Amino acid sequence: MPDTVAATERLILRRWREEDREPFAQINADPRVMEFFPELLTREESDRMVDRIEDHFRRHGFGLCAVELRRERSFIGFIGLNIPTFQAAFTPCVEIGWRLSADHWGQGLATEGAREMVRYAFEAAGLESLVSFTVPANLRSRSVMAKIGMTHNPAEDFDHPRLPEGHPLRRHVLYRLRRE
Ligand SMILES: CC(C)(COP(=O)(O)OP(=O)(O)OC[C@H]1O[C@@H](n2cnc3c(N)ncnc32)[C@H](O)[C@@H]1OP(=O)(O)O)[C@@H](O)C(=O)NCCC(=O)NCCS
Repeated sequence: MPDTVAATERLILRRWREEDREPFAQINADPRVMEFFPELLTREESDRMVDRIEDHFRRHGFGLCAVELRRERSFIGFIGLNIPTFQAAFTPCVEIGWRLSADHWGQGLATEGAREMVRYAFEAAGLESLVSFTVPANLRSRSVMAKIGMTHNPAEDFDHPRLPEGHPLRRHVLYRLRRE
């Protein structure tokens, strides 16, 4: 398929299609998925995010891939690469990130797709290093970061510049991975 970026045993990582928008909006409206984000997204906000992701692919050649289950051929979220647009001590950089439908958590799918995206980042995209970040309480996501070999240096923890002082989600942990 021409829009495929990468594939694993259970997943296809690919460019976005129109029919991904509805299930993605459902994922972004699920309080389980959005527990560690400031707000649930409306359909319009979710669609704007898809527009930004596809724009990122066109400008940089890589991005947050739509994730499809190979067996069911169904869309279940994203895993991929993104260049943050805010400024912090560790920017400019490329982050690796993921968001999957809660119905599919706990089967190692995020780790499986993220491992493949690490390989893609260092081999196909020629990147030297990746970061990932989240709030300290997001243990599922931190566990994926650790399983793909990322390391956390507490000295690099930071306050997210997009969130106001005193916001409960402002503090973030930073993980890094360098190409060997
Ligand atoms: C983070 C996310 C992508 C993980 O997806 P997943 O496919 O379930 O991930 P995996 O199955 O590969 O790994 C999940 C890990 O979390 C662990 N885990 C599950 N529930 C947990 C809990 N309540 N507390 C701590 N760890 C937990 C699992 O045991 C597993 O780690 P292990 O293999 O070391 O045991 C998914 O939970 C998600 O989409 N979350 C919402 C969006 C989000 O927060 N994205 C990241 C923002 S930075």
